[in-house]
Amino acid sequence: MYKRSDFPDGFTFGASTAAYQIEGHSFGGAGRTHWDDFAATPGNVVRAENGAKACDHYHRWESDLDLVQAAGFDVYRFSTSWARVLPDGRGAPNPEGLDYYERLVDGLLERGIRPFATLYHWDVPWFEQQNGGWEGRDTVWHFADYAEAVARSLGDRVKHCVTINEPLTIVNAGYISGDHAPGRRNPLRAFRVAHHLLLAHGASLRRLGVLVPDAEVGPALNLFPVIPRGRADVRLAARIEALVNRLFADPILAGRYPRPVQRLLSLYRRTLRAGDLGLIGQPVDFVGVNHYSHIIVERSWLPWIGFRLVRSTDPNAMHTDMDWQIEPRSFLDTLTWLRERYNNPAVYITENGAAFDDHVEADGSVRDADRRDYLEAYLFMLHRAVEAGSAIRGYFVWSLFDNFEWALGLSKR
Ligand code: GAL
Repeated sequence: MYKRSDFPDGFTFGASTAAYQIEGHSFGGAGRTHWDDFAATPGNVVRAENGAKACDHYHRWESDLDLVQAAGFDVYRFSTSWARVLPDGRGAPNPEGLDYYERLVDGLLERGIRPFATLYHWDVPWFEQQNGGWEGRDTVWHFADYAEAVARSLGDRVKHCVTINEPLTIVNAGYISGDHAPGRRNPLRAFRVAHHLLLAHGASLRRLGVLVPDAEVGPALNLFPVIPRGRADVRLAARIEALVNRLFADPILAGRYPRPVQRLLSLYRRTLRAGDLGLIGQPVDFVGVNHYSHIIVERSWLPWIGFRLVRSTDPNAMHTDMDWQIEPRSFLDTLTWLRERYNNPAVYITENGAAFDDHVEADGSVRDADRRDYLEAYLFMLHRAVEAGSAIRGYFVWSLFDNFEWALGLSKR
């Protein structure tokens, strides 16, 4: 078992959450979000659950922070909700919302825990969504205004900030498979959404740079090896890799789109404008890495797309309760790829962890042996990446609580 002393001085351990998944969105003057709408549509979320109450963290935050402290974490990564701060997505802030986040941050600092705030973890204010959401370019500038409101209120105390969480999932689940809000199935629009998310990253990074120059800011990207199912899928896998990992990492870390994407760009002339890549490619202070498993690509007859991405190929391998194959080696491969391809950027592991169907025993304990094994195996790979020279600064487990797991509702622990 690893000890802190096995990791470099200053290496931080933390736990992550996201606003809509834990706070309870029906209190404190929060505006409606596109997830409230999505969850209200029958069939979208398991057991028709939603984030109205979630973990009731909005009311229970003090005892929840005591848990973070008792667990010995150095860092707590949470997200501010755009619709709680600006209920209409723009215009006047909700004082109750800002006050809530101020108390949360003060509560963390009082307990000696470093706040690590995420600006966008998937809740678009309803009004903003009505006006096109991430399909529209205006949303980018409204998002930057929201980032500014957060910076003005918390920037004196919060010095670590994630801009956008997992742009790939937003595009893939929100606009291709339709499994997440806003539930679209339109791959043709997906690139526009991806570009606007990248712009929102760049625009908020710039605002924070002006308002809180001593803050460390970066995106949280879900990165993973893309494995071809069979020999016939090798070239396909290389193309898909550009569309999933490098679609976001290249513009942010190298200021350009990957080559296979550049060819697509001619279709989107009005989307990509002069100066955009400069805004997107400004230097970041770190890359947040969310990693759970590898992705396997295989051909399929899905209309428009022609391929399928799955997270499991080997029925005999170990799986989490999400049915994600447990592949710790993929974690090391991802970190090695990042170090080699992008000149060893500073990295925080902003999410890693596993759902298992574990139960609370009569004495109140949980014997989560599977989760311990998972974490041990992934920490082993993390340690190897650090030893190999990757500039990894911290590791945050997903998640602090059982929570609203998006389309899976409260069904996963
Ligand atoms: C990530 C996401 C989290 C959480 C996690 C575990 O993709 O950022 O919000 O849902 O997966 O399932």
